[in-house]
Amino acid sequence: MTAALVQLDPLFPDADLAAAFERRGAEFGAYRLYAEHEQIELPIGPGLSPRHDAVRNFLKTRVGAGDTAASVGARTSYFREEYAYGDRLLLDGVAAFRDHEGLIDAARHIHGRPLIEPAIVYANLFLPGQELAVHTDVPEFRGLNRKLVPQWLLVVMHHSGLFDRWRLPIATGIAWFGAPEGGALAYWPDGPDGAVAHNEARHNTAAVLDTDTVFHSVEPVGPLGAVLPPLDPGSVLATAADGRIVLRDASGRHVHAYTWNELRFSVSWKAYCFVDAGERDAWRDHTDDLELAFVLDALVADLRERDHAETSTAGPELGIHLIDEYVRFPVAPDRAAL
Ligand SMILES: [Fe+2]
Repeated sequence: MTAALVQLDPLFPDADLAAAFERRGAEFGAYRLYAEHEQIELPIGPGLSPRHDAVRNFLKTRVGAGDTAASVGARTSYFREEYAYGDRLLLDGVAAFRDHEGLIDAARHIHGRPLIEPAIVYANLFLPGQELAVHTDVPEFRGLNRKLVPQWLLVVMHHSGLFDRWRLPIATGIAWFGAPEGGALAYWPDGPDGAVAHNEARHNTAAVLDTDTVFHSVEPVGPLGAVLPPLDPGSVLATAADGRIVLRDASGRHVHAYTWNELRFSVSWKAYCFVDAGERDAWRDHTDDLELAFVLDALVADLRERDHAETSTAGPELGIHLIDEYVRFPVAPDRAAL
């Protein structure tokens, strides 16, 4: 049996363990702004940002007259650090999280697949005034991932449904610690035409879902009208001697100090979900990989069947065309809610 979202409440039955994990997160060191490193361009989408699909929708739905490019950028730029990547463990005690039986079992329910391989654990920190645009995460296919092709194309591929045979189903667990104001996870369990649901960011709870398929967002953090200081690409959050969390700019200058509980602190976990060892080995050994030319031909053939007879495989407008055709966003809260 599969489910849209499995909740773990509590995540750690031992409250002291949860508190210790949270404390190590608070004292981890510096959290840098998350930046999209993979900037891969194709002739079918020159100039498109890595997540052009989500950015385009956010600009349409969540940007008002008083916003500037800088204020929108700061509002959606959060801080991230990795705690574990494969066998590399970067936070003391993170193995208890990476190998958490409850997360692994929930992943089995999400995809109905028994063989779960945790891949990564990372933390996200949001400041009061920040939010995260409605999106689905970047999926992965045998032979094609974000190191090889633009992220928006992977998103298009998944939403098209044409490449399911090569897809690597991934389960994402999101755990919350602390007591921030706002910052609930909004998600659309019944697809973009269904109703939105909310999962509050409550201490020592987690939710596991297929974030590559289920649209989701993070609602604004902090009190209504929270003022966000300016951010630059070198902005860093770090613990000060008094326990507060200090925002510094690229030159190291103190910009603002927060108490830990003003921040939304979540820890994400991603795991590959395989039917069996044979499927896992096909991925590891590259015995059944997709190739980009095949993907583009299949997408264009599908577009033509959908009555877009003029579509060509080479035009620079194809990228936007694919995004608009296949990535159908839910109707998000409108600007009046800002
Ligand atoms: Fe996400």
